[in-house]
Amino acid sequence: MRAVAVLFLPLLVVLAGLAWGATEVVEHTSRRWAERDMRARAELLVKGVSEPLAAALRRDDRPRARKALADLTRDERVSAAAICDAGGAVLASTAGRPEVIGCRSARARGPGEGASAAPWGFEALGASGPAYVTAVPLADDQAPLGFVLVVEDMGWVVGREAQARWFLWVAFGVVAVAAALAATLAVRFSWYTWTREVRRVLWGTLPLAGSAPNPAQRSRRQFQPLLSDVRALVADLVAEQVEGRAGLWGPERLRDVLSKHLPGSEVIVVANREPFSHERGPEGEVRVVHPASGLVTALEPVMEACSGTWIAHGSGSADREVVDRQGRVAVPPESPTYTLRRIWLAAEEEKGYYDGLANEGLWPLCHQAHTRPIFRGDDWAHYREVNRRFADAVVQEARGTDPVVLVQDYHFALLPRMIHERLPRATVVSFWHIPWPGGERFEVCPYGPELLEGMLGSSILGFHVQAHCNNFLECVDRALEARIDRERQSVVLGGEETLVRAYPISVDWPSRWAGAAPPVPECRAELFRELGLPAETLLGVGVDRLDYTKGIEERFLAVERLLARFPQFQGRFSFVQLAAPTRSRIPRYQQIERSVEELAVRINGRFGTGAYRPIILLRAHHEPPAVFRCYRAADLCYVSSLHDGMNLVAKEFVAAREDEGGVLVLSRFTGASRELSDALLVNPYDLEEASAALAAALAMSREEQRARMRAMRALVAEFNVYRWAGRMLVDGGRLRQQDRNRARPGLPAVRALPDPSARVNHRKSE
Ligand code: G6P
Repeated sequence: MRAVAVLFLPLLVVLAGLAWGATEVVEHTSRRWAERDMRARAELLVKGVSEPLAAALRRDDRPRARKALADLTRDERVSAAAICDAGGAVLASTAGRPEVIGCRSARARGPGEGASAAPWGFEALGASGPAYVTAVPLADDQAPLGFVLVVEDMGWVVGREAQARWFLWVAFGVVAVAAALAATLAVRFSWYTWTREVRRVLWGTLPLAGSAPNPAQRSRRQFQPLLSDVRALVADLVAEQVEGRAGLWGPERLRDVLSKHLPGSEVIVVANREPFSHERGPEGEVRVVHPASGLVTALEPVMEACSGTWIAHGSGSADREVVDRQGRVAVPPESPTYTLRRIWLAAEEEKGYYDGLANEGLWPLCHQAHTRPIFRGDDWAHYREVNRRFADAVVQEARGTDPVVLVQDYHFALLPRMIHERLPRATVVSFWHIPWPGGERFEVCPYGPELLEGMLGSSILGFHVQAHCNNFLECVDRALEARIDRERQSVVLGGEETLVRAYPISVDWPSRWAGAAPPVPECRAELFRELGLPAETLLGVGVDRLDYTKGIEERFLAVERLLARFPQFQGRFSFVQLAAPTRSRIPRYQQIERSVEELAVRINGRFGTGAYRPIILLRAHHEPPAVFRCYRAADLCYVSSLHDGMNLVAKEFVAAREDEGGVLVLSRFTGASRELSDALLVNPYDLEEASAALAAALAMSREEQRARMRAMRALVAEFNVYRWAGRMLVDGGRLRQQDRNRARPGLPAVRALPDPSARVNHRKSE
């Protein structure tokens, strides 16, 4: 009804305006026509008695003139008449001529001396209301003798106008009522169509709404752009409802979700990187190290909440010394809640699978950072073999036949299908932590179809952002004979469906490391003391692995540009970069380490003076307490990735700042920039823009910092890593339930053991 009112009221105003305008036009026009009519009539009447009137004027014969005028007023519309001489004096007049209508005033309204002898007219107030006076000139052999005034009653004109006005208002009234009715019907009809379509979409095709999906139904084209939003919203609402609570996610809620949606299930995580590595220190002692990895940052708190087993490559120098015979160790070391199962890789395996295919092939393939991917046949063979070994480990670790297996990242593209083949009742949820390239780019990978088929062994395949899901679907479309259901956002390959969804990853909230850190002023004082910085120094911070995708060179160049463009920051601004060496056996990584160091030296040479260094490069692994101390000590944090799936440094910085201070300068090419829109977003390649953003961050008022930081903290608090995991597990649980319902006797089983020979035929031929 409100929609009708909203539509109808403006319509009513417009129609009333139109009716008023139309009345004005009609009245004006009909008045002009009536005047013309009355002038013509008066002229005609005067013509009939012009002879006696002219003679009366010539001879100044008043009785004759009166008689002729009396003849004139026999016409029913003529109420009075008068005759005026050339000088403007009244020669004769009938009774009833109003005093105001005199010869002089009539002459004054005429065309003037010498003008053509055409009649003229004007309105005046007669004895019985409005009247029209026509002055008809009389002449004798071209010499003007005078003029006759004919006074006509205008009552009939006014009556006609009133009638026209009434008719118009009635007509517009009818149109308004009809328009209102039409608008009401249109709104009701489109509302009906809309709700019917949304219902059809929700109940007919949504996979996660509880009812059985029906892919045969298709929603109309105009609804398709809305579908993913509706789907996400519905999934959220359903999840909130099913869980029976709203508000922030935390470990407790995640555990509840697990027991409600996946009761009795064991969770197995497979990730190449382990959450804790054991390293032998210089004095022979064994240290526990938290590896620098966004994946680990996100997943470790989730595992602490869910328990289960994390299977990873045992890469620490003392890893073998602390495990049992099966390679298992309980973690976290200080208060164990889950099991870490370590897989040992031979040097060639590690070189081929990890250095080669994963990091020289897939990593540059997926990141737009101008490093050419390298694909070697041997690396591919090792990759396949290591994936198989991890699949063996999953089977060994699974206590039952239907674990929930969370497969992580590009190291294990083949693993989902391998697990599915060996444990068909398992629910495999895979997450790709890095970007996924577009179709054309992906085609350079010689093993593309195999990788896609491997990933499509998952029940759910997650990416950080929708764009990467779309890219993935495009790649499948180009490489495989699979059915892509864009409405459900799924791929059906060999009769088995994989949902492809965006689940933006995040950090734990409240951050355990921020909670354990000293207050912000203390962090600042400690760090400044250690780095020998004067108290008034403005400090920027960067925290990364030494990876070419992180844009560390661009970051240093932006600092250099800042100091060149805004000399007031020279001697006052320092940028501390925590840079953890990574993948150091790979030449491209050795190269980036060198060039970052050289760049720091050059910039420090250019702007450094005495003890002042613009760039403080701390090339080492830093444990989380040190990293969080830096976040808390800094005035700004610059994340300048050239391409990044999400980037959790940005979210960690936000989580670290409960004082609501500090500014985040963030590359637009990170997944995080889609969520953290209150950061200063920059193109890291554009040094002018980046240096201006750094200057703006350093000059930003405390209030603005607070407002921006507060908004970002609210977002990270709500969309934290427990929610990320919870959403995937809820979706996984529902799929599992649907599969079980369908697999009852008499119904075809979903995700039954696929026929490997049939899979080959799924690839598109050239
Ligand atoms: C990225 C990848 C992770 C990886 C991390 C560290 O975040 O997505 O899978 O663990 O980099 O790299 P590394 O090779 O040291 O594990």
